[in-house]
Amino acid sequence: MSLSRLGYASLLVPDMAAAVRHYTEIVGLRLIEQEGDERAYLQAIHAQDHHCLVLNRSARAGLDHAGFKVNDPADLARAAVALQAHGIESRSMAAGTLRGQGEGLRFRLPSQHDLVLYYHADKVGYRTGMENPDPVPASHGSVAAGLDHLVLVAERPAELAALLEACLGFYVTEQANGPDGAALAIFLSCTSTMHDLALLPGENGRLHHLAFVVESRSDVIACTDTLKLRKVPTLEFGVTRHGIAGVTTVYFMDPAGNRNEFAHGAYLAAGMSDRIPPVIWNADSLDRALFYYEADAPTTFMSSVT
Ligand SMILES: [Fe+2]
Repeated sequence: MSLSRLGYASLLVPDMAAAVRHYTEIVGLRLIEQEGDERAYLQAIHAQDHHCLVLNRSARAGLDHAGFKVNDPADLARAAVALQAHGIESRSMAAGTLRGQGEGLRFRLPSQHDLVLYYHADKVGYRTGMENPDPVPASHGSVAAGLDHLVLVAERPAELAALLEACLGFYVTEQANGPDGAALAIFLSCTSTMHDLALLPGENGRLHHLAFVVESRSDVIACTDTLKLRKVPTLEFGVTRHGIAGVTTVYFMDPAGNRNEFAHGAYLAAGMSDRIPPVIWNADSLDRALFYYEADAPTTFMSSVT
């Protein structure tokens, strides 16, 4: 079986109205549908599926689950078998449990993160329309073009990466090691982008950030200006660059405290599981790997998670 891509992040937010404002006005997503104050579905401009982000009203911030699309409806059953062989029970999720989404397979990773695999998503079309579209929306600013990747926190990232490779077809593209040689950050792809998912060490079940891709490196600068103008907290640096993946990036927080990222410039991965060795970052280059310009990673970058 193989995954098609990261489909959506389902986030927990205590203040639904504030979260919807943030993800529409700051991140630039479209509000597709809302179930009162309980749940909202949003999508980026350059995606046709019903949602790339689900907001769930909750007492706390964090990740409810991540949704990955599969290439074939039969992949759901194949995944259930592969997961069970590794001691992970899964359960089917009826079509329509989430609006605009077909049948799914939900399971909990040993890191206490829930994933949902699904095949069908209703189509809402591109924001510019599906007939004779202009290349940019009329009110186009520097906004998210799409959901790009998630970074999760796990007590045993190396074990989790091995499980994701064995069961779901991910492959490691880059890895940063600590002084003892243990993996500190592992970047995994299930597509041809450099990372759809990354793992950092820490408390199980936590979300480090969700990243939205913008259309150019200069858009990251424009987005940073917007964040500063709107007084949206940027926890770490302003616009900067990661050594890992080489992306131009800025991090900021949603009203619940979930870390967001605008990013552009990740290279295309080879798309060949087990055939391309990963890039390795050694302990003496970790700061440069994380923040290439500053070469000094702020402690909050690793410690602040939801
Ligand atoms: Fe990221």
